[in-house]
Amino acid sequence: MEVSDLPFVNASLNALSGSLLLAGYVCIRRGHKTAHARLMIAAFFVSTIFLGCYLTYHYLAGHKSYEGEGLSRTIYFLILISHIILAALVVPMVLRTVYLAWKQRWEVHRWWGRLTFPVWMYVSVTGVIVYNMLY
Ligand code: HEM
Repeated sequence: MEVSDLPFVNASLNALSGSLLLAGYVCIRRGHKTAHARLMIAAFFVSTIFLGCYLTYHYLAGHKSYEGEGLSRTIYFLILISHIILAALVVPMVLRTVYLAWKQRWEVHRWWGRLTFPVWMYVSVTGVIVYNMLY
């Protein structure tokens, strides 16, 4: 495997964790607590691997610039900036939500979960969009 293969691996891991996250949310809305827990732990696990690959890629390959011009460039940067800010924010939010589940503090877990879920989903979806616009 080459360093140049990593963006595709990263985008795939990101899409996988987004799908697990969505499935985990659908499960809890339908009352399937065990399936929810398993899918959320799987999403967390895949996201952790993704983060490792992502940081490795940027350490080895450096930076790639967007080549589009005009409106698409503006849209690209709006998505990228919101993606970066929320990606940094979502890490402690996910840790907090999982910690609360581990401690079985369900009332607070629900509160954080309802906040963490849409932010995590946004970060995941915009990650795929940024990848598609860049490569
Ligand atoms: C960051 C990952 C997670 C997110 C975003 C998340 C999100 C949520 C949300 C949004 C709800 C409330 C659903 C609703 O009623 O609207 C919820 C409930 C719940 N979650 Fe999670 N969850 C996560 C991880 C986990 C984990 C790791 C476990 C178990 C080990 C877990 C167990 C539960 C349970 C049992 C409930 C139901 C609580 C109750 O009795 O009301 N969750 N979660």
